[in-house]
Amino acid sequence: MKKISIILCCLLGWQSQAQNTQISPDGNVKVTFELNPSGKPFYKIWYKNQEVIKQSYMGLELKNTTDLIADFKVIKEKKSTFDETWQPVWGEESHIRNHYNELLVSLHQKTSDRFMNIRFRVYNDGVGFRYEFPEQKHLTYFTVVEEWTEFAMTGDHTAWWIVGDYDTQEYDYTESKLSQIRLLNQGAINHNASQTPFSRTGVQTSLMMKTDSGLYINLHEAALVDYSCMHLNLNDSNFVFQSHLTPDATGDKAHLQAPCHTPWRTIMVSDDARNILASRLILNLNDPCAYEDTSWIKPVKYIGVWWEMISGKSSWAYTNELPSIQLDKVDYTKLKTNGKHAANNQNVRKYIDFAAQHGFDQVLVEGWNVGWEDWFGHKKDYVFDFVTPYPDFDLKALNEYAHSKGVKLMMHHETSSSVRNYERHMHKAYQLMNDYGYNAVKSGYVGDIVPRGEHHYGQWLVNHYLYAVTEAAKYKIMVNAHEAVRPTGLCRTYPNLIGNESARGTEFESFGGNKPFHTTVLPFTRLQGGPMDYTPGIFETQIWNVNPDNGSYARSTLAKQLALYLTMYSPLQMAADLPENYSKYLDAFQFIKDVPVDWQKSIYLEAEPGRYITVARKDKHSNDWYIGCTANENGHTSKLKLNFLDKNKKYEATIYADAKNAHYKNNPKAYTITKRKVDANTTLTLVAKEGGGYAVSIKEIK
Ligand code: NOJ
Ligand code: CA
Repeated sequence: MKKISIILCCLLGWQSQAQNTQISPDGNVKVTFELNPSGKPFYKIWYKNQEVIKQSYMGLELKNTTDLIADFKVIKEKKSTFDETWQPVWGEESHIRNHYNELLVSLHQKTSDRFMNIRFRVYNDGVGFRYEFPEQKHLTYFTVVEEWTEFAMTGDHTAWWIVGDYDTQEYDYTESKLSQIRLLNQGAINHNASQTPFSRTGVQTSLMMKTDSGLYINLHEAALVDYSCMHLNLNDSNFVFQSHLTPDATGDKAHLQAPCHTPWRTIMVSDDARNILASRLILNLNDPCAYEDTSWIKPVKYIGVWWEMISGKSSWAYTNELPSIQLDKVDYTKLKTNGKHAANNQNVRKYIDFAAQHGFDQVLVEGWNVGWEDWFGHKKDYVFDFVTPYPDFDLKALNEYAHSKGVKLMMHHETSSSVRNYERHMHKAYQLMNDYGYNAVKSGYVGDIVPRGEHHYGQWLVNHYLYAVTEAAKYKIMVNAHEAVRPTGLCRTYPNLIGNESARGTEFESFGGNKPFHTTVLPFTRLQGGPMDYTPGIFETQIWNVNPDNGSYARSTLAKQLALYLTMYSPLQMAADLPENYSKYLDAFQFIKDVPVDWQKSIYLEAEPGRYITVARKDKHSNDWYIGCTANENGHTSKLKLNFLDKNKKYEATIYADAKNAHYKNNPKAYTITKRKVDANTTLTLVAKEGGGYAVSIKEIK
């Protein structure tokens, strides 16, 4: 047999070295690594003996020097096993197991006398691999022209995708076959303040797919640090995805200095969609917590002076009197207010009172600081100073008032993407937060990046977002960044990164609406990298009842808005609607008041991307459980066995469900609330109507 294969190899001119294989701890996932006759590295992946990734080449094209693509020889391979359970500061569960088998392949490139390692980690639910560049003589500083990592699919899978773009992820998802991406690309692009689509077959990660044989595959990356964000470009003639990095202003994709490594490229796979949601592969591939003391990092439930601006009822800006603002020249005290400025003393006090009355931790106030009159669209450099309040916002008095009621104000730093300006002011801005007792900031990156020509997802910006988080940590400040690069699990290492937007959030319900299936896709895609500040809780889904000039409506029933607090996991949850809208539905609002934002355990009960997601979570600090289900436009019926409840305990369930005649379009606010006793033997049959959902609180009877 050996003889035959040697002869075959010679006939084919194949000088391949031994194939290196590693399998997952349960044996279901297998990865192989090989070199082709030209010394080009490639890998393949199987799940339960089904091919998941066909032969896929790996390598990097470098600037003005030999590429790291071919001419390699394997000089060493090392296999190892790792098994550890760690405790996140906050999360979907209190303990996370990190169990993998590793394959480390050390390569030598003959012509250039360079070394490169490829490290694979094989988990029960997928694979991560990265390129590593050890310290060496002939590779020190180098510039990446492109990373050429392939992900070769086995067929024309169904995908849930958004358009590949260097500057925004605020797109609606499209469900289609891979072969239809090119055709549907143009229709999938909606306007954004900054956007740079790069190809008709370009898509973003995390990309969710399903094969005809029922395998669920997810492609993403983990631990994106000092490198640019990876997109995927599809060759639709053979279904091979090619990595496509975000360029900098000069077109280069990454500037590296050995020793260093790339982020992990991740491939999750399962024959059960629930396992994709329950996977902790991305978090596990990130480094452990970098901070010694994390006692200052706390989950947050908040309301905000926000939706009234998003809906167009009120404004961030103080005045309409000037055609443009030059911060160092304007004297706001001499200007008339426009009468719509929401961040004024009286209004903010109203929100503080409401937060205190209903037990919220914080009140976000946007539009509190000078500069909002012409804040985006001009690539303006000195747009905000992050420290000077408008004349009608008394920084000291409002913070004191909030603190006297046990509430904190949440800081807002909209950078308008003038990032150099933000870095210039950041320390004073954080210091001001310390001085007045703020411990969380929502930041934002609307519009094109300054320095001009840079992109939101390039290496320079990737470094900035992390810098903002690690500098904030020095002031014990938690960060929730909007429009920043999509997360890749860095919240494990830097848990003061308590949220990101980085996708199309609830704000778009006011800008024309999100597709009804949107929130049945996001947990499979965007949320793989970390929590999203989705800002749920819109009870008045017909926005014209908030602002008569706004004809938009949320593609959701009211009950589904409650379910989002479960299905869209985040340690930072907003109740986004106006206090007066909650006051109209206080019985349903009770669920938002009750629902925890930190969990001991999470069990995905049902899941199908783009269709429905049902999750049960146990409160981190009690024996209470909460269930949420969101459905697409066709609705969903669940039969839920509550056998996860403690066998020795009795519980009272409160079920917040769509009424029989509820529908996201024409009857969104019809809901029912029922109470019943339940235990571990109970089966609940619950219905999410079209574009609807349900939420259940299950409290222990003591
Ligand atoms: C976009 C953010 O997503 C939104 O939440 C914020 O209110 C505006 N930018 C203004 O900063
Ligand atoms: Ca946004």
